[in-house]
Amino acid sequence: MDRPNWAPGDIDLERPSVARVYDCWLGGAHNFAADRAVAQKTLAAMPGLRGVVLNHRAFLRRAVRYLLGQGVRQFLDLGSGIPTVGNVHEIAQHADPEARVVYVDVDPVAVAHSRSLLDGNGRVGVLQADIRDFEDVLTSPEVDKHLDLDEPVAVLMIALLHFVSDKEDPWAVVGGYRDRLAPGSFLALSQAGYEGDEEPADSREARKIYDTRVAPTTLRDQAQLTRLFDGFSLVEPGVVRVPAWRPESPDDPDAAGKRFPGFAALGRKA
Ligand SMILES: C[S@@+](CC[C@H](N)C(=O)[O-])C[C@H]1O[C@@H](n2cnc3c(N)ncnc32)[C@H](O)[C@@H]1O
Repeated sequence: MDRPNWAPGDIDLERPSVARVYDCWLGGAHNFAADRAVAQKTLAAMPGLRGVVLNHRAFLRRAVRYLLGQGVRQFLDLGSGIPTVGNVHEIAQHADPEARVVYVDVDPVAVAHSRSLLDGNGRVGVLQADIRDFEDVLTSPEVDKHLDLDEPVAVLMIALLHFVSDKEDPWAVVGGYRDRLAPGSFLALSQAGYEGDEEPADSREARKIYDTRVAPTTLRDQAQLTRLFDGFSLVEPGVVRVPAWRPESPDDPDAAGKRFPGFAALGRKA
């Protein structure tokens, strides 16, 4: 297979990646045949999946706009993905050109594409790192250069923590970031999940394909997400289905109504 010039030399084009499959679902162009094959199979199993993904992106936009309204001008976007329409720096710097963003992702394509897009934007940093290594992220030169951790920062974890298993303790990971944040900082988070045994057959089928071919996922319910906000005060309406978090217009995509397969919330550190 020909390697496009945006693809770093050390990646395996035959192995689907979380970031590139997500890019396929979003209709992006930074993916390979192996990624597209999984994206198509999962979409065939669960046709509502694209709407699910669009809802997480819509939550990201609403959260960033809310945070800008609260005066936040520093963003740490963890698991930021391959840049697509409505990236955090675009929304934030449109509101205030002084706003600063650090994007963090473990995926080499996401990082390479972010770097090429952001070349020349002096207020945005890109870091390739595993977000579970919170000390490394928080003490990285990129964070040091672009963010002042003694001032409020918004940490974003959008459609991310279902890739961190219970064994890997996402509560401790979030806590690691929280403890370093200044008072008045925020956490905005969304992840896949259901209440109880409500996961429908099409979702089970899509996850079976995804978990074996791309990466294992861990679903979480409302109570588990609420625990991720220990040490934060939840902003209204609390932990809710993704489309129900402060919808801005009737056009906000709502893939699956009340049974939407994921939760979102935003909290403030006192
Ligand atoms: C589903 S995508 C979401 C991207 C973006 N947050 C959004 O909402 O569009 C998840 C992203 O998290 C990244 N990711 C997953 N686990 C990670 C980890 N442990 N450290 C850093 N990035 C991770 C993947 O590479 C992928 O780009």
